[in-house]
Amino acid sequence: MSTTEVLISELVELHGRTRNSLMPILQGVVQQEKYLSEDAMITVARELNISAADVFGTASFYTFLDTIPRGKNVVRVCKTISCHMKNKEAIIRALEDTLKIKVGETTHDKQFTLLTANCLGWCHKGPVMLVNDEVYPEVTPETAVEILNKYGRSK
Ligand code: FES
Repeated sequence: MSTTEVLISELVELHGRTRNSLMPILQGVVQQEKYLSEDAMITVARELNISAADVFGTASFYTFLDTIPRGKNVVRVCKTISCHMKNKEAIIRALEDTLKIKVGETTHDKQFTLLTANCLGWCHKGPVMLVNDEVYPEVTPETAVEILNKYGRSK
């Protein structure tokens, strides 16, 4: 058994072998392995006895379930309407300039990947940024850059 298969069988053990376990299992894989490989998705489908298409569909719908390798820290800026109206563009620009990458890219040192996300459920405190699973509400371009420093950005 590969390490991914072992991990998935542990997650199935933990969450149960039902359709409702799909999300927690996929999240568990992403947490451990930083992304969701095709092999992992096929294994999950087999374990839960659902179609691989079903798993692929779920993974591509939820932007949290990365299907390509990412940097050590994944930074996401909410792009949905409330945050958009609170100038999420300025946050994205500050992060892009600081990290010298565009949204969707990973820094050369593999420390940061910059992405956007759909509503994170903090609309009243936008603009919102997420680093890995830590939420940062009401960020400004300045605080967004300071937050990166906390995660070991090399200046
Ligand atoms: S719109 Fe950004 S958190 Fe809801």
